[in-house]
Amino acid sequence: MDTSTVVILDFGSQYTQLIARRIREFNVFSVVLPCTVSLDRVKALNPKGVILSGGPSSVYDADAPAADPAVLALGVPLLGICYGLHFMVHHLGGKVVASDHREYGHAEVEITAESELFRGLPRTLEVWMSHGDETLALPEGFRRTAESANALAGIDDESRRMWAVQFHPEVAHTRQGMELLKNFCMDICGCEADWTPEHFIQTTVERVRAQVGDGHAICGLSGGVDSSVAAVLVARAIGDRLTCIFVNNGVLRKDEFAKVQTTMREQLGLNVVAVDAGERFLTKLAGVTDPERKRKVIGNEFIAVFDDEAKRIVDHFAAGDAKDVAWLVQGTLYPDVIESSSVHGPSHTIKSHHNVGGLPEDMKLKLIEPLRDLFKDEVRRIGRDLGMPAEIIERQPFPGPGLAVRILGEVTAERVAMLQEADAIVVDEIKKAGLYRKVWQSFAVLLPVKSVGVMGDQRTYANACCVRAVESEDGMTADWAPLPYEVLRAISSRIVSEVRGINRVVYDITSKPPGTIEWE
Ligand code: XMP
Repeated sequence: MDTSTVVILDFGSQYTQLIARRIREFNVFSVVLPCTVSLDRVKALNPKGVILSGGPSSVYDADAPAADPAVLALGVPLLGICYGLHFMVHHLGGKVVASDHREYGHAEVEITAESELFRGLPRTLEVWMSHGDETLALPEGFRRTAESANALAGIDDESRRMWAVQFHPEVAHTRQGMELLKNFCMDICGCEADWTPEHFIQTTVERVRAQVGDGHAICGLSGGVDSSVAAVLVARAIGDRLTCIFVNNGVLRKDEFAKVQTTMREQLGLNVVAVDAGERFLTKLAGVTDPERKRKVIGNEFIAVFDDEAKRIVDHFAAGDAKDVAWLVQGTLYPDVIESSSVHGPSHTIKSHHNVGGLPEDMKLKLIEPLRDLFKDEVRRIGRDLGMPAEIIERQPFPGPGLAVRILGEVTAERVAMLQEADAIVVDEIKKAGLYRKVWQSFAVLLPVKSVGVMGDQRTYANACCVRAVESEDGMTADWAPLPYEVLRAISSRIVSEVRGINRVVYDITSKPPGTIEWE
């Protein structure tokens, strides 16, 4: 079955991914492509409609993104958003100029003409604007359909099946944005709501089965959502010809090494090889205090351990009667795919993140990336539909370098043990208060600061620990979470009385930006 697809051409707006996410909420598949792709690539997807995104440039700039204007004659319905509107106007014979009335933020828009795009919407819309250009003259055949106090807000040419708005329907501040996008996708483009979790699971399992044939695959498990869902999907396709590798890097959370193994084997039925390399990592980390250096050490060591193990497994396959074809499963997500092909190129790195499983190159493993079309919230939805336990699906993100980036200064076994205890208390109290799923992350950080305290009649001189809890949509920006005082009180008194070596607890009230979520 061919699923209905809407193609989004990305002109570089910070909101482009949101357009795809919103459309997928209608169970319609949508793909983001850089605006520079060839028309053939767009046509190959057989789209029901095309959306031209917003973007930071001006259409009259010499370095305006070089999209092929022939996209405007593709013959499927088109929706232009902000820069997309300007692109249509500019290339179809109208005029766009820099505006004296730049609009940023909330605005009110009056609908001034009946249009299929606005069907069922109130006459006044609350919208989100973000533009510095305006349209002076419309191309022939177009008419004005909406106005803001300062400028034109909507146009269309229904005979050519083109619609455009100056505001951003994909941003939550545009209250009727979802209805507008739905009108476009379902009514105008005639999409079916056929991109469902069941459909995704079925087609992915079939594809993986066909890809791998009677070969074998290996997968690095971190215990987090992405690698677990990827592993379960692949295991559905090839059963125990998938071997998962789970490495203890010495900086996991309390009891995590044992717990993840039990869940993966007993609840998910995965074939797991667990490698206890904790000491090996801690030895390499001795004396390392620089955060980026810690990441590098852990990243390199991980690849070394993973490679050793993968080689052993691959040799084992080759010795058996199976074909010596080996595959590596990776939990790459759609935002990484979009990012790596974006018009801007990969974004500036503030912290060098590394994920599970480097690619052991000399083994010539081929990649399977079953989640490369999905956003994080969609991975959770698929996990739920695969019957995976909430304990895994709802897990808060945990960085690859683990507790090492939450122990400021040198990482030692003693400090890891101390932080594991404090962290377990934070998570336990947050869960008890029913807040675990409401916050994006909640954890403890061990500070290299000693202060004086008093316990019983004894003076203490011990470490400080910081509690960090943030609310976020995607980890890119975050607000510190206003945890109830009672929860903070419980966390603080438990840590000080239960964790030897910590006598003071502080709460981090820094948002991102200007802070980051992790301390290192
Ligand atoms: P920051 O600290 O950059 O974190 O605001 C944003 C999100 O990324 C996670 N994080 C990492 N994840 N390897 C990872 O796999 C890393 O090195 C790393 N550093 C930060 C962090 O937990 C948060 O969710």
